[in-house]
Amino acid sequence: MRIEPVPALVGHLAVPGDKSISHRAVLIAAICEGETTISGFGRSADTEATIAAVRVLGVDVVDEGDDVLRVGGVGSRGLRVPEAPIDCANAGTLMRLLAGILAAQVGRFELVGDDSLSARPMERIAEPLRRMGANVETTEGHAPLVVHGTALHAIDYELPVASAQVKSAVLLAGVQSEGRTTVVEPIATRDHTERLLERAGARVTRRPTSVSVERAETLRLEEVEIPGDISSAAPFLVAAAIVPGSSLTVHGVGLNPRRTGLLDVLERMGARLAIYNRRSIGGEPAGDVEVSTSDLVGATISAHEVPALVDELPLLAVAASHARGETVVRGASELRAKETDRLEAIVEELRRIGGHVRATPDGFRVRGVPARLRGGIVDSRGDHRLAMVGAVAGVASRDGVELRGADAAAVSFPGFYDVLEQIAPGAVHYPPAS
Ligand code: S3P
Repeated sequence: MRIEPVPALVGHLAVPGDKSISHRAVLIAAICEGETTISGFGRSADTEATIAAVRVLGVDVVDEGDDVLRVGGVGSRGLRVPEAPIDCANAGTLMRLLAGILAAQVGRFELVGDDSLSARPMERIAEPLRRMGANVETTEGHAPLVVHGTALHAIDYELPVASAQVKSAVLLAGVQSEGRTTVVEPIATRDHTERLLERAGARVTRRPTSVSVERAETLRLEEVEIPGDISSAAPFLVAAAIVPGSSLTVHGVGLNPRRTGLLDVLERMGARLAIYNRRSIGGEPAGDVEVSTSDLVGATISAHEVPALVDELPLLAVAASHARGETVVRGASELRAKETDRLEAIVEELRRIGGHVRATPDGFRVRGVPARLRGGIVDSRGDHRLAMVGAVAGVASRDGVELRGADAAAVSFPGFYDVLEQIAPGAVHYPPAS
């Protein structure tokens, strides 16, 4: 696919429902009593894998169209042990959170994933789940995973890495365990699991650096509405911030403060940003975000800020390339454990199109030049976030970008290029059908 430069991005748009919340809504609804109606579900390859996974566990999911799902919960003891392995495809959130749920279900469950997911660290969830009494086998620290679920007991657990997925795996096991499970997180990560469990009737106690959950005999959600995904809005917001003359508004975006790090950093860099119609959508803060172009300056991002923009750091590197001065990102070595090694990928791919980026032991540095990047070839390496980074770099570039592996965007945002073309007409050029 070719992405051509555009003079400006202008207009209004909406993005699919939040992927993190969509996974959690289906997984928690599966162990609820009764039916849950989920609206604003973020349809993507990743979340389709979650629907398929709960179906093989015996949960009825009816797709009502228009991003509405009905999930027939089977209760906390009702999941069926499938004969075949459960395929988590590319979805780390699915594999890690589902392992937490299954750890408390009696039976043997095997979880597999694609090549990318099978290269990602899984001991980080296996270890706390074993402490709770489950028998979890990894394959040299990776998937395939075998979870022998059993009756669990509560633990106190301090996260060794700032990971919402690990925290959530422990909380989802904890809500099914005898006693009170506490997860200590020195650096705050997204709290969608806590919010949904609380809504489902679990007793959740939140403190500044920890969260506890008690066993819930029954969970019941009934209705969940999901706001737009700020991580899917991010490519458009960054493009509007750097392509001269742009002005874009993304409507109905989730603005959970543990997810809005990109907005905070862009603002620090001098971005012109406004939030309208602040409201609550499904128990999450939300609003309409407007960004117009302005001159940006470099910024420093430190470890405590990283979880709030962890998936947006590759995009931030594009924004930083267009900003005056240096941008320094620290405490971000987790980027090496994502769908690809995103630290290496950012550095190599942005350099190929004229960026001045270099890796540091725990992050990267960008020397920005307030001019368009040259352009050239960007390879997504099969990583959805990198595909969208390549597209943003393309519209903001001088010569355009040949985007290899563009299809990967569908892992989180199947309609991404259509939306891009709507607000940046002439940007997207598909290769001729062969
Ligand atoms: C996610 C948490 C983050 C993020 C991922 C989704 C979640 O991962 O990178 O895309 O839904 O909990 P970690 O918590 O492992 O850092």
